[in-house]
Amino acid sequence: MCPSMLNDRSSALALLRTRRSAKPRDLTGPGPTPDEMEEIFAIASRIPDHGKLFPWRFVTVAEDQRDAFGALLRQALVEHDPCATIAHHQKEDDFAHYAGQLVVLVSAPVHDHKIPVWEQELSCGAAAMNLLLGATALGYVAGWVTGWRAYSERVRKAFCGPGERIAGFIFIGHPAREVEERPREPATPIVKSWEPPEL
Ligand SMILES: Cc1cc2nc3c(=O)[nH]c(=O)nc-3n(C[C@H](O)[C@H](O)[C@H](O)COP(=O)(O)O)c2cc1C
Repeated sequence: MCPSMLNDRSSALALLRTRRSAKPRDLTGPGPTPDEMEEIFAIASRIPDHGKLFPWRFVTVAEDQRDAFGALLRQALVEHDPCATIAHHQKEDDFAHYAGQLVVLVSAPVHDHKIPVWEQELSCGAAAMNLLLGATALGYVAGWVTGWRAYSERVRKAFCGPGERIAGFIFIGHPAREVEERPREPATPIVKSWEPPEL
């Protein structure tokens, strides 16, 4: 698909057919306004949620908190990889300062509930997807990333309560360079007719 046809907002179907993530490092500001963020969170929350448990939360990291976020990542990196190079530390600081609005999506399942945690985690993934769609529908681009930081106990504790985990770091902004299509052909068939087992 030609880059100019990506993220076509002319209709709901066009957007669903052409939405493309952006690499957070390729974003430029500004991110959405507070009113737009409110709308994006409302759209992100309008998703299937078995048991109406709201098993996810959105944590925003403000522009003036990026230095603190960078310091947290650098401290966590020392524990994650004591041999990390200066370049790796710099990379984490760069990550913390990527342009646009940063939202940390927290998976917050209700444990020991009749609704399995797996289903609650699926709901969290749906929230992430709707957040990307909502941001793109408003004319922004967005990228959902994790990496070692999402699994660091130090970083987890800075954003999550007990039993919660980081589902992703989502950056929302404008593309500093043209968003390109990526290969979409799956290696294996993604749709097949059910073959009932022999009973
Ligand atoms: C849970 C999750 C974590 C991801 N983490 C990363 C990551 O750390 N780095 C990365 O380059 N892409 C990561 N991706 C992939 C991108 O978000 C995105 O799927 C990819 O760039 C293609 O986006 P698109 O198909 O929406 O255009 C992750 C995706 C998911 C679902």
